[in-house]
Amino acid sequence: MYLLAIESSCDDTGAAIFKEDQLYANVVASQLVHQNYGGVVPELASRDHQRAILPTVKAALEQAQIQKTDLSAVAVTYGPGLAGSLLVGLSFAKALSLGLEIPLIGVNHMEGHIYSVFIEGEKPTFPFLCLTVSGGHSEIVLVEEGFKHTKLGKTRDDAAGEAYDKVAKLLGLGYPGGPLVDKLAASGNPTFFDFPRTYLPEYDFSFSGIKTAILYTLNKIPAAERDAFIQNHLADICASFQAAMVDMLERTVRKAVKETGVKRVAVVGGVSANRGLREKLEKSAAKYRYQTYIPPLRFCTDNAAMIGITAYFKHRAGFMSDLSLNAQPNLSV
Ligand code: KG4
Ligand code: ZN
Repeated sequence: MYLLAIESSCDDTGAAIFKEDQLYANVVASQLVHQNYGGVVPELASRDHQRAILPTVKAALEQAQIQKTDLSAVAVTYGPGLAGSLLVGLSFAKALSLGLEIPLIGVNHMEGHIYSVFIEGEKPTFPFLCLTVSGGHSEIVLVEEGFKHTKLGKTRDDAAGEAYDKVAKLLGLGYPGGPLVDKLAASGNPTFFDFPRTYLPEYDFSFSGIKTAILYTLNKIPAAERDAFIQNHLADICASFQAAMVDMLERTVRKAVKETGVKRVAVVGGVSANRGLREKLEKSAAKYRYQTYIPPLRFCTDNAAMIGITAYFKHRAGFMSDLSLNAQPNLSV
């Protein structure tokens, strides 16, 4: 059976095709319009999804070399995300389900990120811990077989990706800022500034303090010299910020491994593409004897393949949605 998966929760329009658990096509149209605004503009996002969805699905069908009549199920993200954006994908999927008389499978975007470790490469066995670090979420979840998810900790303010994007904005870099900061950090000195690390009880995160610390540090420099200082030390500021971010994430993961006794850790979501985080967790895993599972880069940021693999598991477990499925912008795991 061929399954088409659609993702449109934020600013990427994605379509993927699976045959059982084998990925046949994965197409992502990333919206560039938001770069002019330094963040995602919801109304522009939904309009862009509307323009992109048909060509994206067609491209996926072509990549898989199948016709739409070959499809035997359609999966779609129904939350969390931007209401208008979710509705574009959802309406499209419902229409396809109705027109082709094939089952509709609603997928939670956060579960999609979690199960992205099962698309390709080495897969964890259950139970495992999952660190989801994206532009909208940062959380640690205990994942057990049968779609049993227990949220152990989450951010109390900014998400990790949001912190990256805000710091990038502060430094006059583009949007999304995460990849740009990551690239600059590679050539900077991570100890140039000693930005504060926030450690909270349990497994919660807080990333808003570090952004303020960077702002205060830069504001202390006389105004006439500030721009030149930032330009001269851009890589050092990025490296110092990144060092603090990965320290906070790694230490919390390590604590969760120690206290739950679960030694498999999936790391997913846009920020799992971060080279500094990948390196830090690899070293930590070797030292503290746990194993990490991090998807290939193209499955870290938003994509429909992660929705498709989750739908495959749900369908196999007998799960199906009906046409009353609605967008749930605040859905959680
Ligand atoms: O998972 P994702 O594509 O979308 C959400 O569901 O939010 O994550 C996007 C976030 C953005 O904040 C982006 O700046 C961040 O992931 N990101 C990165 C990197 N690549 C993407 N952050 C740090 N380093 C990266 N290499
Ligand atoms: Zn996401």
